[in-house]
Amino acid sequence: MILAIETSCDETCAAVADLDGTLRSSIVASQAAEHVAFGGVVPEIASRRHLELIEPTVRAALAEAGCVASDITRVAVSTGPGLIGALLVGVSFAKGFAYRSGIPLVAVDHLHGHVASLRLAENPPAGAHLVLLASGGHTLLIDVAEDGALTTIARSMDDAAGEAFDKGARVLGLGYPGGPELAALAVQGDPAACPFTTPLAGRTDLAFSFSGLKTGLSMAVTAGDNAPADLAAAYQEAIVDHLLDRARLGLAATGRTTLGLVGGVAANGRLRARLNELPANVVAAPLAWCGDNAAMIAAAAVNLPSLSPVELLGLDAHARSPLG
Ligand SMILES: Nc1ncnc2c1ncn2[C@@H]1O[C@H](COP(=O)(O)OP(=O)(O)OP(=O)(O)O)[C@@H](O)[C@H]1O
Ligand SMILES: [Mg+2]
Repeated sequence: MILAIETSCDETCAAVADLDGTLRSSIVASQAAEHVAFGGVVPEIASRRHLELIEPTVRAALAEAGCVASDITRVAVSTGPGLIGALLVGVSFAKGFAYRSGIPLVAVDHLHGHVASLRLAENPPAGAHLVLLASGGHTLLIDVAEDGALTTIARSMDDAAGEAFDKGARVLGLGYPGGPELAALAVQGDPAACPFTTPLAGRTDLAFSFSGLKTGLSMAVTAGDNAPADLAAAYQEAIVDHLLDRARLGLAATGRTTLGLVGGVAANGRLRARLNELPANVVAAPLAWCGDNAAMIAAAAVNLPSLSPVELLGLDAHARSPLG
């Protein structure tokens, strides 16, 4: 069985899966409550909390899967991108576990993990497909070839979609994490009351941009002419318009006919409701696996090579990803 570990941000996660990827357990210990007072993740607090939570979280994942440490024959760990101090807790734990048990370790890119969350869907994409990854730190179009090779074909020129939700929520005086709070307020508003211009409208750049929207929202809030719920609804609508617009361009550019939607923003209800506008067979990651979790790290590890004993000892965390 595989033990997968994920500690790239403010969630301490462990999962157990069979070697073919069949999920046995998944535990996500969120630290969100500890960061609320600061309006965002404080890296030093996150690292310290991961240190306290990693062992009980792994124990809970083993217990939920009905197994013990000696049943684990492979360890997978997210090595980045993310907060270095936070990642190092997971990486060090995984190295220690693999070394002590004399079992192979698989290093997994966190973004590859998000892409692999599609394998946990009821009808996972079969064959080549395009993936829209919209999370707190990234907004990407990733082409997945028939052999599983990943190629990023579009990135954000500035903020990520999740960051746009979080910053928009802050501008509207909402709590943290901002995405779900802004989405909840938007349900009560009318997106047509004060529409924002869709970023890069009419342009064919394979790229995302969200910072202009945030500036537009700040100006509208300062002007004070619109109800906060209408502003939230219009702001969310513009983010969704932009994501769908770029997904359409990516599908046309690659000729792919299946689109996967992954990452924390994939949990957004309005985005999910409008996926049927896309000229593709769309597979969205199940809600439970949109945000950070270790089940997706286990899913990604199934088709990845293990590190040699020498590589294992030298394994390090990295803040950035070649996919980002
Ligand atoms: N319902 C929602 N609507 C919009 N945004 C949401 C929703 N739920 C979560 N988010 C956003 O998703 C983001 C978190 O996603 P995720 O955990 O995948 O990001 P991350 O791991 O911090 O970044 P990355 O994966 O790029 O390293 C946050 O910005 C959060 O506000
Ligand atoms: Mg993530």
